[in-house]
Amino acid sequence: MTPARRRWVCLVAALLWASGAGWLVAHHWLVRPGDYGPVPSPVEPWALRLHGGCGYAAVALLGLLWGVHIGPRWRMRRARLSGALLVSVTLVLTGSGWLLYYVADDDWRAGIAQLHWLLGLAGLPVFLAHRLTARGRARRGRAAPDL
Ligand code: HEM
Ligand code: HEM
Repeated sequence: MTPARRRWVCLVAALLWASGAGWLVAHHWLVRPGDYGPVPSPVEPWALRLHGGCGYAAVALLGLLWGVHIGPRWRMRRARLSGALLVSVTLVLTGSGWLLYYVADDDWRAGIAQLHWLLGLAGLPVFLAHRLTARGRARRGRAAPDL
């Protein structure tokens, strides 16, 4: 991966994760009691706006990586296990994120949200494991051109 692409992927992944985790913290621990009931923290809507925006960027980057990284590395049989796991997690996050916009039934929405954020939190170690193991293996194997 070229250094510029790597920087964008890491930046968007970090912002996506931090905004999702930030929303969870604000939603569960930063609510204050008010005269008319619980008052949400101002962090909550801003975290979700940032998160939704980063979601678009993540989908755009997935499209780019599909052509320049995922396809070529798959054909080279490099880091297939951690790569396939990362792609699967990203696709489920993208699908469940999309559903969160449109599912109106409260019970279904709560279930989808829980799946989404549990998988999202677990996505960070999956991403880091892919970065570390794939790079190590690539260094030990034949040199591959930056894509
Ligand atoms: C959501 C999908 C994916 C993302 C976000 C992703 C991201 C990354 C990142 C950030 C690196 C580190 C690059 C570096 O430090 O130079 C990397 C390396 C690597 N990835 Fe992926 N990856 C994905 C899917 C895949 C798949 C499906 C495969 C293989 C079938 C794969 C194979 C590799 C290999 C071999 C490397 C070592 C460096 C290189 O050869 O470019 N990746 N990936
Ligand atoms: C490709 C990756 C991802 C995409 C496309 C995505 C997309 C979305 C979308 C569209 C929403 C709904 C926003 C709204 O209701 O205004 C959402 C909500 C959320 N996301 Fe993600 N997300 C991704 C990854 C993550 C990750 C890594 C986390 C980890 C912490 C996470 C945690 C959350 C949380 C906590 C919510 C709020 C759930 C709720 O409303 O109950 N997401 N996401």
